[in-house]
Amino acid sequence: MCGIIGYIGKKKAIPVIIDGLETLEYRGYDSSGIAYYNKKKELKIIKEQGKIAILKNILNLNEESNLGIGHTRWATHGQPSRINSHPHNVGNITLVHNGIIENYEELKKHPLVKNYKFISKTDTEVACAIINSLYNENQDILKSLEESQKLLMGSYALAIIVNNDFEHLYVMKKDSPLIIGVGNKENYVASDVPAILKYTKKYILLNEGDIGIVSNKNIKVYNQKKLVKKKILEFEWDLEAGMKNGYEHFMLKEIFEQPKVIEQTIKEYINDYDFINLPDLTKYNRIDIVACGSAYHTGLIAKYWFEEYCNMEINVDIASEYRYKKNFLDKKCLLIVISQSGETADTLASLRLVNDKKIDTLAIVNVVGSSIAREAKNVLYIKAGPEISVATTKAYSAQALLLSILAFKTSVDKKIINIKEKEQIINDYHNLSLYIQDILSNTKICESIAKKIFKANDIFFLGRKIDYAIVMEGSLKLKEISYIHSEAYPSGELKHGSIALINKNTPVISVITDENIALKTISNIKETKARGAYSIVLSSLNMDNNKECYDYLIKIEHIHSLVEPILPIIYLQLISYYIAKLNKRDIDKPKNLAKSVTVE
Ligand code: F6R
Repeated sequence: MCGIIGYIGKKKAIPVIIDGLETLEYRGYDSSGIAYYNKKKELKIIKEQGKIAILKNILNLNEESNLGIGHTRWATHGQPSRINSHPHNVGNITLVHNGIIENYEELKKHPLVKNYKFISKTDTEVACAIINSLYNENQDILKSLEESQKLLMGSYALAIIVNNDFEHLYVMKKDSPLIIGVGNKENYVASDVPAILKYTKKYILLNEGDIGIVSNKNIKVYNQKKLVKKKILEFEWDLEAGMKNGYEHFMLKEIFEQPKVIEQTIKEYINDYDFINLPDLTKYNRIDIVACGSAYHTGLIAKYWFEEYCNMEINVDIASEYRYKKNFLDKKCLLIVISQSGETADTLASLRLVNDKKIDTLAIVNVVGSSIAREAKNVLYIKAGPEISVATTKAYSAQALLLSILAFKTSVDKKIINIKEKEQIINDYHNLSLYIQDILSNTKICESIAKKIFKANDIFFLGRKIDYAIVMEGSLKLKEISYIHSEAYPSGELKHGSIALINKNTPVISVITDENIALKTISNIKETKARGAYSIVLSSLNMDNNKECYDYLIKIEHIHSLVEPILPIIYLQLISYYIAKLNKRDIDKPKNLAKSVTVE
């Protein structure tokens, strides 16, 4: 979490840094700060608790400055406060940090900093003090940064200014994302490319252990004391992708982008009636799928597809659990990790664990060049484009879609799905974006449901098998942006205790797509209705004979079950969005959250 940015060049640095921070605010928004050299070559550090708008208010955006760094924080060590905000300064060193210095308590006792009195509660100040002491000893910043790498444990992306050095920014990276933006007689440093997209599409990806020296005309990157040659890459999305374009929130814009994202992802992996760019998974007899949050929910959906259509053993785990439990992997197993950001700490750690055992790994990622994308043996990209809203929508759908195509191909490769059925399913994929457009063309249904239930204290979600996996995402979406307590249950499980929480008018939202078990779920919904629940049912099946089980019915297009599960979530995203809006929540930046979770 946390976003960092740096600029050196002919432009006024302060507005460039603030622009960048506003784009990076999704990474954290507890406090923000900026450090820059002014016209008189004085170092200024200004920071404030709260969102970037507060910092912006106290800055003079017209002030002359050609070098600066900025930070937006998601607090890990030390509560949100001005003292704990970045940039931190110790002696000759001023820096911003994304990541966690895990051994910071131990380092506070290191002889290098024994006489230094720490003023903040952060791990970052410790890194700053260590680098400052090394620099005072060496009078050589490159050497000092190299030496600091041996002392600092954990993760860091650092952007650094050195006192009286008006010509350079310094950067150092380990396990937290960092890129250098390449301009014309000006250069940038940022946590991700959209932060600098207004100015340049060209960038250099930094690798683990890289140290960069950035001037306005030159970029030098060292790794293990050697100068390394870096490729200049070009970002494939343009500025529009990072803007709201008239939508009230990024979340709504991203919900509405789903037809396009679905089309792009399909185009990448299905050409007419053939699969392209996809690996052969038939050689594996077991797949472990590991991810966090919404990405984990797409893994749960995939489990049903792979089991049902490929007859394969699938084990889905939350990454923070998987990395610490006993795993029974052998060479016939594949690990699939799923991550929008490609930087989620626990997912990355799980990947590394399995990579170390020389077992095949495949990453499904959105952010090109992210750590997970680079470290997995094989990577498949979803084509979602930058996702700014903290609550994922389009990346979730694209992940689910790609997993569905992967299961579909595996089933065809195993000759479980025959040619005729294959064609019918491909037609469903090709029509999927139209079905989604159809849902989006009438958001009134979701708005009126939201009006009915937005004041509820608890909202429950029910589903069986794949529908349970779908409602888990619906429930997460709702609670993270509306702050309403919500839980998702396999519909048969509610009566084993939690049904005690169903009261008069408690909303219960159920998804029913699987014909074979529809009647079971319907009975479970009736059990909640008997206790006064207000029932909303989303179903692709004919519910004419079961009118008494719902107060509100949303009809879903009935298509092949490899494709259909991508439809209900669009409604659930919209319902959550409107509930959050009616409750006046900060939809794109919900409290306590951050987009990219780079800590354990
Ligand atoms: C919820 C959400 C999170 C992420 C999770 C994993 O809306 O966005 O639950 O899905 O933090 O993030 P990635 O996919 O970046 O690994």
